[in-house]
Amino acid sequence: MSSKQTMQLLPVLVSLALLFVGTAAAARKTTHLKFYMHDVVTAVPSSPATTAVRVARGVTPLPLEPAIRFGDMFVIDDPLTEGPDAASPVVGTAQGFYIFASQTDFALMLTVNMVFTAGPHNGSTIAVLSRDAILDPVRELPIVGGTGVFREATGYGLLRTYSANSTTFNAVLEVDMYIRARV
Ligand SMILES: *[C@@H]1O[C@H](CO)[C@@H](O)[C@H](O)[C@H]1NC(C)=O
Ligand SMILES: *[C@@H]1O[C@H](CO)[C@@H](O)[C@H](O)[C@H]1NC(C)=O
Repeated sequence: MSSKQTMQLLPVLVSLALLFVGTAAAARKTTHLKFYMHDVVTAVPSSPATTAVRVARGVTPLPLEPAIRFGDMFVIDDPLTEGPDAASPVVGTAQGFYIFASQTDFALMLTVNMVFTAGPHNGSTIAVLSRDAILDPVRELPIVGGTGVFREATGYGLLRTYSANSTTFNAVLEVDMYIRARV
């Protein structure tokens, strides 16, 4: 092919390339999943098993709550359920950890794999790496990846405190995930 022919073909090639890129982008779709996360720090009759275990103790007490220290780290395996009641059907589990990462505020670094165990997403996971300022009404959860039907996932989640107990530190979190993947 002469360079003149190539030049004449160029617009066609560019159009084809754009069409390909467009099709690939359109093949990703957003899945909205809503569920509740149960973080049980202290066993109580209504939640007899702990799901969050402190594995490291910080040194400096936080100004607003001396029982909590900057650097405290909890490993979690928190059940995810369809509804806010712990007895509602389980859809998965949030496995990972959170660290009290601010010296002054209740701001966690929350790092979890959300492992789905029910329905069409059974066996798939999404990876979340986030800042969780626990007193804020809404926190954003960046999705940094996924596996199974959520391979190469992007997107975000919204985290809200549904209920929390200041004596036991147990909490129920409302989670809305907007997952972009090739599902
Ligand atoms: C999820 O997948 C596992 C492994 O394939 C299977 O044993 C289990 O029964 C499935 N659970 C549901 C609720 O489909
Ligand atoms: C917090 O938990 C304690 C221990 O289970 C319970 O006695 C208390 O009523 C709870 N407080 C609230 C506001 O639910």
